[in-house]
Amino acid sequence: MVSRIIPVEEFDLIIFGGTGDLARRKILPGLFKRFADGQMPQGSRIIAAARSEMNRAEFQAFTKEAVLAATDESETSDLLAGFIDALDYVMVDALGVEGWEELAGKMRGGCIRAFYFSVSPSLFDDLAKRLHDHNMVDPDTRIVVEKPFGRDLETARALNQQLAARFDETQIYRIDHYLGKETVQNLMAVRFGNMLFEPLWNSQYIDHIQITVAEEVGVEGRGSYYDHSGAMRDMLQNHLMQLLCLTAMEAPAKFEPDTVRDEKLKVIRALGPVEPHHMVRGQYAETEDEKGFREDAENPQSRTESYIALKCEVQNWRWAGTPFYLRTGKRLAARSSEIIVVFKSTPHSIFGPDAGEHHNELRIQLQPNEGITLKVTIKEPGPGGMRLLDVPLDMSFAEALGEDADAPDAYERLIMDVMRGNQTLFMRDDEVEAAWAWTDPIIQGWEARHDVPKPYDSYSQGPTDAKLLIQRDGREWRDIKV
Ligand code: BG6
Repeated sequence: MVSRIIPVEEFDLIIFGGTGDLARRKILPGLFKRFADGQMPQGSRIIAAARSEMNRAEFQAFTKEAVLAATDESETSDLLAGFIDALDYVMVDALGVEGWEELAGKMRGGCIRAFYFSVSPSLFDDLAKRLHDHNMVDPDTRIVVEKPFGRDLETARALNQQLAARFDETQIYRIDHYLGKETVQNLMAVRFGNMLFEPLWNSQYIDHIQITVAEEVGVEGRGSYYDHSGAMRDMLQNHLMQLLCLTAMEAPAKFEPDTVRDEKLKVIRALGPVEPHHMVRGQYAETEDEKGFREDAENPQSRTESYIALKCEVQNWRWAGTPFYLRTGKRLAARSSEIIVVFKSTPHSIFGPDAGEHHNELRIQLQPNEGITLKVTIKEPGPGGMRLLDVPLDMSFAEALGEDADAPDAYERLIMDVMRGNQTLFMRDDEVEAAWAWTDPIIQGWEARHDVPKPYDSYSQGPTDAKLLIQRDGREWRDIKV
């Protein structure tokens, strides 16, 4: 197989919030893996800029621990030593003057420079201003920003304006890590790399689509953040929205940043409003030995949802009449993310009523066991007439591809895309705003109604009402299971 390492040029990555949770769990181990695979060129540097009183050696020790916790690397490996050598640390006050001269003094020419804002969005403006004041930005400098990108249209717009005041849109990389997942990109490969599906990919042949992102974990440790966010803002407005876009969009003319993002934007703008009776919010209840959502959030009155299910419509020619059912939640029966495309039954059964109702289903499993399953109808073997049976044509990527199925983590992929200057898998300003424009009235609606989320059992399928939401339409959710 041809080498899959696409080289990037030498870079300096400056991570604001470089000692935070995301840096420890994802960014630093991810960069190490790129280094270990030879994709991070010699001479590249990673400079953490954070509030913590730390020096370079302490940050190196912090990173070593983070890498050892996230990989199988041995403590004494030369690779790890080489990576650690590329690290530096500057103590910086995002709101003050401390550290900025020192940071500016470390900048150099002749390589790519990217600033990763892994901090609260409330600091974006201050960081951007100080970077400019200290002449650390040129037209080729990139900045990477994390979600949450605002909490509604107004705040997202304000953030976009703050960034736009100092950076060109082509310099801004808004991360939605779902877009960096290998199987999410595979969705585009399956749709636009095969002739088989596209002619059937519309309301004439598709009965409905289910998009599920279920998690087994609760919000433990992040309760107070989550209580201000909820499943709608934390997951649906961004991650599920991206999955919906990739599932529903028209074929872009090319796999290029703006052609792909233009098509996604059209999908978001075509989303119809969601009626109150087309959505269900839930909160997980306590178990004998685990806290419920309200206890985790330390807010006994909390009305924030840890689960949301809704039915929506993409109001355009391709999708008119085909509902999309979306659901996501914490403390559900399993960690499982998948897209299920449920095709219509054949227009007429030549086998008579005894053959029963049958239809094809394409299931794209995003995590944990990536793969594709196509449910096809065949004859039940043996004598006894023409009885029909649905069987899966099953392809697990791990089995089909062996070692080649081991894909880089989303963050590894996305950070390298930043260095390559490829924005295809990043959200554009108008896309984020359109997503909030659709989300805002839904949230305002339940706030005005003083809606209280329905309790659901931990490790279950979610609230009973969510089951009814789809059953009322004569359909069933696929069980959440691995
Ligand atoms: C994050 C959310 O964006 O995505 C978390 O803030 C969630 O609440 C996480 O747990 C899920 O990501 P993944 O990659 O584990 O599916």
